[in-house]
Amino acid sequence: MHIFLLGAGHVGLVTAVGFARLGHTVTVADIDEPRIAGLRSGRMPLYEPGLEAAIAEAGDKLSFTTDLRPPDDVRHAFVAVNTPQGPDGPLSTEHVEVAVSGLLTSLRGDQAIVVRSTLPLSGPDTLERLRGDRPDAPAIVTNPEFMREGSALRDFAQPGRIVAGWLAERDKAAAEAMLELYAGIDAQTLVANARTVALVKLASNGFLALKVAYANELARLADAFGADAQIVADGMGMDQRIGRSFLDAGPGFGGSCLPEQAVALSSLAGAAGVPAPVLDAVAVANDAHQRAIVARLAGLLDTDAVPVEPAASGGRLPLAGRRIALLGLAFKANTDDVRESPALALAALLGEAGATVVATDPRASERARRVAPDLAIASTPEAAAAGADAILVATEWAEYRSIDWAACARALRGDLVFDLRGVVDRAAAERAGLRTVALGRP
Ligand SMILES: NC(=O)c1ccc[n+]([C@@H]2O[C@H](COP(=O)([O-])OP(=O)(O)OC[C@H]3O[C@@H](n4cnc5c(N)ncnc54)[C@H](O)[C@@H]3O)[C@@H](O)[C@H]2O)c1
Repeated sequence: MHIFLLGAGHVGLVTAVGFARLGHTVTVADIDEPRIAGLRSGRMPLYEPGLEAAIAEAGDKLSFTTDLRPPDDVRHAFVAVNTPQGPDGPLSTEHVEVAVSGLLTSLRGDQAIVVRSTLPLSGPDTLERLRGDRPDAPAIVTNPEFMREGSALRDFAQPGRIVAGWLAERDKAAAEAMLELYAGIDAQTLVANARTVALVKLASNGFLALKVAYANELARLADAFGADAQIVADGMGMDQRIGRSFLDAGPGFGGSCLPEQAVALSSLAGAAGVPAPVLDAVAVANDAHQRAIVARLAGLLDTDAVPVEPAASGGRLPLAGRRIALLGLAFKANTDDVRESPALALAALLGEAGATVVATDPRASERARRVAPDLAIASTPEAAAAGADAILVATEWAEYRSIDWAACARALRGDLVFDLRGVVDRAAAERAGLRTVALGRP
């Protein structure tokens, strides 16, 4: 089949490569001309393991264009454009509406628009309104993406489930037909009303955010009582009803999906007048956790362990005069994505607390510079550590498991390594004369 796809971003490129591997021909279009020019000449706009090689392997099964009109022979036009925080709250459908409106003018009744972007619960109504009651209008179905950055190609090929949503009765057959594009992939499928499907997507990410927030609170509790949060997570995870994933302590959830969708669920409930104290708590949990991390760091550096509220600290900032080397900027390892990265949130809170921050990341420095132009970024952990009082590890990069701790110890002014991800080889760091502390671990 020939598939047309709007949006050469993380989801769009992974989806396009995934379909090309299943034997389809995919034409990918984007409004971003430099991005398309780059892709045509083999330059990647983002880092995802295996993606560059997979695009090269796809050969002429995959092509890139800035022409937003679908070729005549396509049966399905996918929309994988971004749904950022907009003026009306999280998950703005502004770009989806532009993309779908364009497709509605050029597609026939025997063709289908497949919205892969994440929709708010009002999204299906918006799409129905855009389509109006033209009898020969194309079908509109939804097909939310559940991939994780860093393992996105594998997640496309081995998804937990493939979900299809129909807007109206007339779209039901198109939803079933769209699933046939995935022939060759062994996965459970679910077909339902697009409103329900939109909630499946938001509820899944909201629940993952809840698990992370819960794990982080447990880690702080474990630290207060000398328990080991990792063993607690292992023990909980042995219960199949709970599962082990998303229970590791860390700097908070991040990325383009979890924070945005946790906030979206809470604000949707608020707007509908539905009391949702659990959803509301998840939406604010990261901020509380990150403030607690900064307060703990201040305590470990022997300064006042007061909450990081400059106004409440009587004018004396808890980390004034301190210099912190922040290891990791990507919201997680194996991606260069810094959207809603907890590391960037921590950098901002450390700055608010009076510290000077020098960050480093093996992949995400360039993207971080674009969103945080004032943040000092060094090229290696040793360079970031120069003259610092402490090293704070915020991203679980494999590289951070084998840091040259002797070199860091020589570069540091202080001696503290505070590991938020459990990746530091504590014995090696301690042999180099450093003091190590790991979140949630005694
Ligand atoms: N990144 C993830 O891990 C992930 C996972 C699951 C779902 N999602 C959802 O998938 C959607 C896309 O996310 P992403 O991370 O790929 O976004 P992205 O920002 O990486 O890419 C979006 C692309 O769409 C392009 N675009 C915008 N308007 C366009 C238009 N009218 N026509 C053609 N191209 C247009 C942009 O130029 C950009 O290249 C979002 O709704 C997101 O919530 C993302």
